[in-house]
Amino acid sequence: MSFADAIGGTRHAWLAGALLALSLLTAQGAETPPGYAVATAHPLATAAGIEVLREGGNAFDAAVAVSAALSVVEPYSSGIGGGGFWLLHRASDGFETLVDGRETAPAAATAGMYLDAQGHAIARLSIDGAIAGAIPGEPAALEWIAHRYGRLDLARDLAPAIRIARDGFNVDPHFVEFTADEIKRLSPAARAVFMPGGQVPAVGTLIRQPDLAATLQAMADHGAAGFYQGPVAKKLVDGVRADHGIWTMQDLAGYHAVERRPVRFNFRDYRIVTAPPPSAGGIGLAGILQQLEVLGWTGDEGSRSIHQVIEAMRRVYRDRAAWLGDPDFVQMPLADLLSRSHAVELASSIQPERATPSANLPATALSTRAAQEGDDTSHYSILDADGNAVSATVTVNFRFGSGYMPPGTGVIVNDEMDDFAASTAASNGYGLIGSKANEIAPGKRPLSTMTPSFVDGPNGMLIIGTPGGSRILTMVTLGILNFVRGHDASAIVAAPRYHQQYLPDVVEWEPAAFDDVQQRQLAAMGYTLKRVDRGYGNMQAVIWHRKTQRIEAASDPRGVGFSQVVISLPAPIPTPKP
Ligand code: DON
Repeated sequence: MSFADAIGGTRHAWLAGALLALSLLTAQGAETPPGYAVATAHPLATAAGIEVLREGGNAFDAAVAVSAALSVVEPYSSGIGGGGFWLLHRASDGFETLVDGRETAPAAATAGMYLDAQGHAIARLSIDGAIAGAIPGEPAALEWIAHRYGRLDLARDLAPAIRIARDGFNVDPHFVEFTADEIKRLSPAARAVFMPGGQVPAVGTLIRQPDLAATLQAMADHGAAGFYQGPVAKKLVDGVRADHGIWTMQDLAGYHAVERRPVRFNFRDYRIVTAPPPSAGGIGLAGILQQLEVLGWTGDEGSRSIHQVIEAMRRVYRDRAAWLGDPDFVQMPLADLLSRSHAVELASSIQPERATPSANLPATALSTRAAQEGDDTSHYSILDADGNAVSATVTVNFRFGSGYMPPGTGVIVNDEMDDFAASTAASNGYGLIGSKANEIAPGKRPLSTMTPSFVDGPNGMLIIGTPGGSRILTMVTLGILNFVRGHDASAIVAAPRYHQQYLPDVVEWEPAAFDDVQQRQLAAMGYTLKRVDRGYGNMQAVIWHRKTQRIEAASDPRGVGFSQVVISLPAPIPTPKP
């Protein structure tokens, strides 16, 4: 395919505009998009993705480039010291898969490792410092994606990130704010990198990360083994253990990314493909949307409709807590959870005008069985000109993960161990409760809420996801409902949000999510409304309108993300020889 690129980019969206007519004349049929698009949480990560696409890479190469670049420019959100889920759609044969690069518990981890002698969870032990770190999964996932699905090699995909780490980048207001907020949690090596001269950097300060550049270069030279074995691995393990962590060289050498079959279901005329366990996201998304279908969701935005959405959310978060965990360790009734009959049963207890207190949520066949039997993170969306797509959510969990950087590596160690249930009595940093299904065990993956998704139907194909801890699932739900309503990408990422997660039994809402009348009506239905003063989430969306051959991309206005659409011009028509 020949590209004479026409480029445009805005912070939110760029529409194909005048070039649309031209693109319709190309030899490409409606089966391929008229160009490509990248939406990420940082302009330099978007540029990294565009760079490899322009060099002939596909969406999967771009995903590797973007992940690695985020590691450098958004160290507070995701990185090679963390993990994530990469949902892939291959256009040539329609193959869809989830690359699971979720972190795993080290071999020395135990179910009670974050509890005191009385069995109570010790505050912040699973959040701060190297003891909170699970074995990183991102390096293995990046190698896997580049080798199995990419068109370029891993070294080429990593090149933009290595360059930015080596030459430096100018920090933005978010970076400054997050660094200032987390100073106390940053280890000495992390402070040396992110606070040059011992000071929180001013906006525009150049941050160079030579150690991280060298670690990424080791991956470019030796593949994932450059991270999990040899000198980098030794520095990681020595550093973590010096900070009272429990990683070993065997833990690192034994890490494997896994491919899993995505969750797939239909909502009205739309086919949805999303993350399976060890994320709770896809099962929850299916549960919410199927309940809404049972209830006859109309798309109306009044209080009654909001009430139905909130009640559907409440019910799936109870199932999450009761059932979900790492599929390699626990048996889960996934077919039951995804079944129409379960959605019907859940929806049947939703009263037309009344909130159901979580404490009074009626039992279902499944919940009875359960009782008897026992503004960090980052998302990006990519579409290439062949129609390959990636929806990926990547994370180190809380801001700057555990805050710990093993000296000489440039790697921020995640604090994903907090996504396990420290005990069946304790809630985690997001207030989520859990069960034995999500208790800690060596080698096990902690339960996630990350919900990278594809939605395909009459309004085109949407590639969507967001960070936001336990609220990820409800944000993606609201985003999909707005897509089905026909909203454009900018409106989808900007829309005000609300959230209910079973316990605590409150409805969190962003300013502007409910007007005065809706607030009164919802309160009268029995809801405890808790307004959150800061917006949450950082959604990135790409839409390919197949019928009109238009591409839209948008980055959440709550963040500093940047989305770019590149429209391919047709190959020049040869001039006939005289
Ligand atoms: O896997 C999860 O669900 C969490 N570790 C995600 C954390 C997150 O989104 C933090 N962002 N604000």
